[in-house]
Amino acid sequence: MSYAPFEYLTTASKNVQCLQRGRALYVRNGATATLYAPQMPRISKLSRSVKDRVALVTGAAAGMGRATAHLFADEGAKVVVTDVSDGPVSAVVDEIMAAGGTAIGFVLDVTDADRIEHVVAEAANHFGVIDHLINNAGVSRFVAIDDPRYEAQWTESFEVLLTAQTRTIRAALPHLRQSDAARIVNIASTEGLGATRYGSPYTAAKHGVIGLTKSLAVELGREGITVNCVCPGPINTAMTAEIDEQSKATYAKRRTALGRYGDPEEVAHATLNFCLPASRYMTGAVLPVDGGLLIKNA
Ligand SMILES: NC(=O)c1ccc[n+]([C@@H]2O[C@H](COP(=O)([O-])OP(=O)(O)OC[C@H]3O[C@@H](n4cnc5c(N)ncnc54)[C@H](O)[C@@H]3O)[C@@H](O)[C@H]2O)c1
Repeated sequence: MSYAPFEYLTTASKNVQCLQRGRALYVRNGATATLYAPQMPRISKLSRSVKDRVALVTGAAAGMGRATAHLFADEGAKVVVTDVSDGPVSAVVDEIMAAGGTAIGFVLDVTDADRIEHVVAEAANHFGVIDHLINNAGVSRFVAIDDPRYEAQWTESFEVLLTAQTRTIRAALPHLRQSDAARIVNIASTEGLGATRYGSPYTAAKHGVIGLTKSLAVELGREGITVNCVCPGPINTAMTAEIDEQSKATYAKRRTALGRYGDPEEVAHATLNFCLPASRYMTGAVLPVDGGLLIKNA
């Protein structure tokens, strides 16, 4: 079907009114109204919904992990809530269910390789697939290079922040391969792109997360599995709770463009964006969610 151009119809007859609504063109002449639907195909075809997708989140009992679990559930995803202790995991599952969402919880210490295999298999068995893996669990250990505790803190940081991500990815991969929107999102940090004094174990591990993300994006790209990385800046969670409010405010005003700490939910939305079916051409990306910390010179 074809239709006369808008300009032609408006000038051809004073009786004819043209109303353009969305992509349809209505021509009204006296009492009759005709809809001329143009043949142009919809340009937007990709979905921005994670409804019914299965998302496994590590460290999901608090902070950004909890916010991510909630956000995905709010968007209709089925969420696998995992963290080190039973009580907080159950609490998040209960919160999600009470809000009308779908979730299942597992105790999972990400330094336990056997437990990772078990939990991933159980979750996939329960929901049938795993579409999205969000590697969020983290600890922050700051220690001077000549401190006697250095080696222990280095080992723990790498176990939790980096090695665990490789293990969850390896365990989840067969299930991700069953998905037509397979997404891995690794949570790094602005410490993955810069450094803070005494943070070398954390900073080195977070730089490693970015390297891991890029490498696996290349390795898994041909399979349509995307691997991306979110780098939060200063966010109000338990990890930063020991810093007093005045120091936080001073730091945020001096160092970030937005002049404030971020909220966990603001980071969760970045993670969600990476998981959308529509985000299928984004991979190997390293996204700061830092209120402009990294771009602010003065
Ligand atoms: N808060 C920040 O300012 C900030 C900034 C940059 C990056 N990050 C990163 O964001 C992620 C989330 O941190 P958060 O700020 O929400 O902190 P948080 O302390 O509120 O939450 C971290 C969660 O990880 C869990 N966890 C710790 N060790 C674990 C283990 N071995 N196995 C399983 N779960 C474990 C904790 O129990 C907790 O629920 C971490 O990877 C962290 O490094 C945080």
